[in-house]
This record gives sequence, structure tokens and C-alpha cells, in this order.
Amino acid sequence: MSRPTQHLPLFAAAAAILLLSSAADPDDERCLSSLHDSFSGGLRNWTKAFFAAPCEGFISHLQGVTCNNGRVYKLSLPGLALAGAIPPELSNCTNLQSLDLSSNALSGPIPPDLSALLNLAVLNLSANRLSGAIPRDLASCAYLNVIDLHSNQLTGPIPDELGLLVRLSTFDVSYNRLSGPIPVLLANRSAAPGAAAARTGRFNASSFVGNKDLYGYPLPPMRGHGLSVLAIVGIGLGSGLLSLILSFSAVCLWLRATDRTATMPGEEGKISHLMPDY
Ligand SMILES: *[C@@H]1O[C@H](CO)[C@@H](O)[C@H](O)[C@H]1NC(C)=O
Ligand SMILES: *[C@@H]1O[C@H](CO)[C@@H](O)[C@H](O)[C@H]1NC(C)=O
Ligand SMILES: *[C@@H]1O[C@H](CO)[C@@H](O)[C@H](O)[C@H]1NC(C)=O
Ligand SMILES: *[C@@H]1O[C@H](CO)[C@@H](O)[C@H](O)[C@H]1NC(C)=O
Ligand SMILES: *[C@@H]1O[C@H](CO)[C@@H](O)[C@H](O)[C@H]1NC(C)=O
Repeated sequence: MSRPTQHLPLFAAAAAILLLSSAADPDDERCLSSLHDSFSGGLRNWTKAFFAAPCEGFISHLQGVTCNNGRVYKLSLPGLALAGAIPPELSNCTNLQSLDLSSNALSGPIPPDLSALLNLAVLNLSANRLSGAIPRDLASCAYLNVIDLHSNQLTGPIPDELGLLVRLSTFDVSYNRLSGPIPVLLANRSAAPGAAAARTGRFNASSFVGNKDLYGYPLPPMRGHGLSVLAIVGIGLGSGLLSLILSFSAVCLWLRATDRTATMPGEEGKISHLMPDY
């Protein structure tokens, strides 16, 4: 996880540290107060006074907040029975590297605005009640190592773009309501050495299970869809065969009936035939 500050000249980094640790960041304040407004549940020390100055250099008195150089860089609030929606303004915590809101009761969509968190490496929103689609914009968070969205109520396809996240080492979207094909670049496929797929294509079935309408490697191909296509073909063939059999037996019955009506009067004829000719 390399941060942009590492690439800055030393004096600029030092100046930035001094500046940021002395003055509270208005973006972080906006981010934290919107979180507070959205989430119901008691977070310790989450008060207006602390939002205005969330960081004292590297430490924060806000529960679940970790700071780095005077900026919020980690939000860790798992298992606190938090309810409500994830506010789009969370994206104002622009230095955030790790977001863990797992095992709460959060509902509503994953805001596409989170794609503005360009330093985000860990996204853990697992075990909530989140719905809607997985935002394809998340692919612009190039440092993402972990995407854990398991056990929610997410719908729609897995965006192909997520397969382009070359640093992804954990990807879990199991137990949602996702549908469609699994992106080839996310599947465990033995690709040509050096190809992007060789580094990114490393997730097995356990990352995708529990989504009824998701299909393709490493899950079975065209699950559900394949069966219904087979069923349609089967029903078509079966009903064709059945109507053939029915019409054939109808013809047989008709033939037998006409044969019988033909032989009925014929019996007299036969008898008369058997009569010796005089
Ligand atoms: C809340 O803030 C006080 C200082 O005002 C601090 O002593 C305490 O540890 C903080 N609580 C948490 C959970 O960080
Ligand atoms: C804060 O977040 C909102 C929602 O994503 C966005 O519209 C706004 O531009 C952000 N503000 C800043 C200063 O980045
Ligand atoms: C995400 O959070 C859950 C629950 O808090 C935890 O069990 C899981 O290991 C986390 N995922 C990752 C990839 O760390
Ligand atoms: C799937 O991969 C994970 C690591 O990503 C591993 O822990 C697990 O055992 C694998 N499961 C199977 C069935 O290969
Ligand atoms: C990925 O697939 C290869 C064979 O294609 C297999 O040897 C390997 O164990 C798989 N990895 C996981 C994590 O399932």
C-alpha cells in the first residue's frame, strides 16, 4: 500500500503533516458528521466538538476512528448494531484507506461516490442488509486489496471492471442476490503467465456461492438458465412426440373402427361367401 505522500518531496510531506495536524480537515468533518446523522446507534464520543477536530496528529478520541498525519485514514465500526444508510458524504473522508462497517444492520445502496476514495485498500461491508447494485465505479479505487460484501441483499451483475483491480487479494460477494455471469478476470483461471488475468483471476467458488442466479466458472455454467433451456427443448420434443403418438393411435383407432364397421356387414357377406355355390 503506497500512499501518494511517499512520492512527494520530503519537505512538502513535512509541511503537509504540520499543516494538517494543526488544522482540522473540513472534508473529514463533513464525512464524520454525515456518518453520525445517517447511523442510528450509540457511537462513543461521536459529537460535534470531536468532528471539528477528529484527529490529534495520529490519535482520535472518536470510537472506531484511526488517524494518520491529522487525517482520518481508518474507520472500523464492525458489530455495533448500526442501522441506516451509508451516506454518499463518506467519500469526503478523502484519505480513507480502510472502511469496515461489517456485521451491522445497514440498509440501502452502496453509494457510487465511494469511488472518490482513491486511497481505499480495504472495503468490508459484509453482513449487513445492503441492497442495489455493486457500483462499477469502485474499479477506480486502484489500491483496493479487499472487497468483502458477503451476506447482504445486493442484486444485479458483478461489474466486469472489478476484474481490472490488480491488487485485489480478497473478493467475497457470496450470499447475496446477484445474477449474471461471473467476470472472467475474477474467476480462478489459469491464464498465460504475465497476463493481468494471471494475477487477478484467483477467486474460487467460495467467493461467489449463495447467489441463485450467478453462473459461470468457478460456479456451474448457466445455472438455472441452462436447465430452463433444456427444459424448453425437452418440453418441445416431448410434446411433439406425444402429439405424434396421439395422432398415430387416433389413426389406428379410426382404422380399427372403420375396419370393424366394414367387417360387421361383411360377416354376413363372409357367411354368404362360405355358403356353397349352387
Ligand atoms: C472519549 O474521549 C475522551 C477524552 O475526551 C477519552 O478519554 C476517551 O477515551 C474517548 N473514548 C473513546 C471510546 O475513544
Ligand atoms: C462530499 O461528498 C459529496 C457526496 O459524494 C460530494 O458531492 C461533494 O462534492 C463532496 N465534497 C467535497 C468537498 O469533496
Ligand atoms: C470483514 O468483516 C467480517 C466481520 O466483521 C470478518 O469476519 C471478515 O473476516 C472481514 N473480511 C476480511 C476480508 O477481512
Ligand atoms: C478458496 O480460496 C480461499 C482463499 O482465497 C481458500 O481459503 C479456500 O480454501 C478455497 N476453497 C476451495 C474450495 O478451494
Ligand atoms: C485454481 O485453479 C487451479 C487449477 O486450474 C487449481 O490448481 C487451484 O487450486 C485453484 N485455486 C483455488 C484457490 O481454488
